[in-house]
Amino acid sequence: MTQDTFPIRRVDHVRHYVNNARQSAYFYQHTFGFNVTGYYGLETGFKDEAGYMLEQNDVRIIFSAPIRPGHPMAEKIALHGDFVRDIAFEVDDVDWAFNAAVSRGATAVDAPHTVQDDFGTVRHASIATYGDTIHSLLNFDNYNGPLRPGFRVENQPGDPIGIQEIDHCVGNVELGHMNKWVKWYEDVLGFKNLISFDDKDISTEYTALMSKVMASGNGRVKFPINEPAEGRKKSQIDEYLEFFGGAGVQHVALRTDDIIETVSRLRARGVPFLSVPRHYYDMLPDRVGEIDEDIEVLAELGILVDRDDEGYLLQIFTKPITDRPTLFYEIIHRKGAKSFGKGNFKALFESIEREQALRGTL
Ligand code: FE2
Repeated sequence: MTQDTFPIRRVDHVRHYVNNARQSAYFYQHTFGFNVTGYYGLETGFKDEAGYMLEQNDVRIIFSAPIRPGHPMAEKIALHGDFVRDIAFEVDDVDWAFNAAVSRGATAVDAPHTVQDDFGTVRHASIATYGDTIHSLLNFDNYNGPLRPGFRVENQPGDPIGIQEIDHCVGNVELGHMNKWVKWYEDVLGFKNLISFDDKDISTEYTALMSKVMASGNGRVKFPINEPAEGRKKSQIDEYLEFFGGAGVQHVALRTDDIIETVSRLRARGVPFLSVPRHYYDMLPDRVGEIDEDIEVLAELGILVDRDDEGYLLQIFTKPITDRPTLFYEIIHRKGAKSFGKGNFKALFESIEREQALRGTL
């Protein structure tokens, strides 16, 4: 057992910077079924931004929006569109973690400071990672409130669809930068490289990418990092980098224990998913062997299946949920498999490329 050189308890939340937090909250409440549990803004003492907290089981999302002209957040949104700004970690000791990260080469964003209200204190700091993405470091051991300092309790229940936790968050980085960020996660946050794909694994006639999966010391936080590889035409990673304006979070995978129920309900609520060629399901029994689910039901819903040494997994990818072809979601249901669906990459990419062709960006 090697030592965990940067203990992280869990991903506490994912914060998005958006133009209109109220509408983003409404979308996630009425599609993914999140409960809207918190609000902050003018009414809670904030002068120039507002936001909402949404929760479903162990997943917490915060939307933040600027509410006055000239807010620095607005400049970043103008560049990237609505985007994932922060994948925030809960850690044992914020000051130790921040100092360790900076001494190992991380760029500081916010030095450790205390935020408080009547329920206690929260320690907070943050460091920069790829692009305009940051990792906040948070500790709530001395806080007993229902939410966080600054938030007012909202009670707007969603209609939850069985999302349990964040399984992994994927970053897209520029050509030639993947190994730099792999090393950054190793050196700074003590992550380990779990599995790597190379362009022979993940290529289609037109596009290719390279990907390495980084996992935290306790294995609970998993961050695959992609970079484009040379293809005959522009890869989906190139498309992302162009429209996003640099490196950023490509997708967040949400884990469910009943993917058929979760995806049926998302489809009923109008969430668009990548389509999968019928051919994929004809080949499926040979590729993955015996599974519990009815293949016809999976085909109807467009759910993908992959197998590794430890079991199998079911997964599906939404189309981008923003106007730009940038952020999308994955729904994943693990039945023993701890991998990420390598066998589906080719089938998936062929499907993504059909969408790209429709946008004229292939
Ligand atoms: Fe994924």
